[in-house]
Amino acid sequence: MNDRRAIRASEKNIVLIGFMGVGKTTIGQLVAKTLSRDFIDIDQEIEKDFGMTIPEMFEQKGEAFFRKTEKEYIMNICENTTCKIVSLGGGSFQQEDIRKKCLESCIVIFLDVSWENWKQRLDLLIENRPVLHNRTIDEMEQLFNERRSIYALHHSRVETDNREPEEVAEDIVDMLKVDWELHQP
Ligand code: S3P
Repeated sequence: MNDRRAIRASEKNIVLIGFMGVGKTTIGQLVAKTLSRDFIDIDQEIEKDFGMTIPEMFEQKGEAFFRKTEKEYIMNICENTTCKIVSLGGGSFQQEDIRKKCLESCIVIFLDVSWENWKQRLDLLIENRPVLHNRTIDEMEQLFNERRSIYALHHSRVETDNREPEEVAEDIVDMLKVDWELHQP
């Protein structure tokens, strides 16, 4: 692998983190389109390669297998690519190795949502999110808060409450442009 320390700020991968259903995929695609960069959704890559959906993988191979797989995919992207816009699964940042690698080699952007706002989206997302199954609403709130303290480790945070994905994506692009300008060689 080449020397990652030599990578310029504008070439670093942009990694989107945040709780499930916050809009990482939609917003990531919009950012990638505006910047004419490739978009990678880790869950979609896994689904494509294994020929099964994430809920099917949880059911047939177990969560531990999924976590190991997502780690391999994310580490590989961090170590071997540049200039990508990458959407991570909401649970991946709980793995310390992933967190460390992303924070040291990429620009990590946290898409934030309030619990009140997120709760309103629950019906739309619960079916395809096995980690939410068999949890009470209080347990979901606890998971939300636990994850939030982990997402606190980021380079930039963007608010998503009551905002269209286009607006959020625009903010991210503007922020990146300022950052790239500041770090011009
Ligand atoms: C998960 C989030 C999902 C997916 C899997 C586990 C989690 O991704 O990786 O169902 O533990 O939060 P999204 O954040 O894209 O929903």
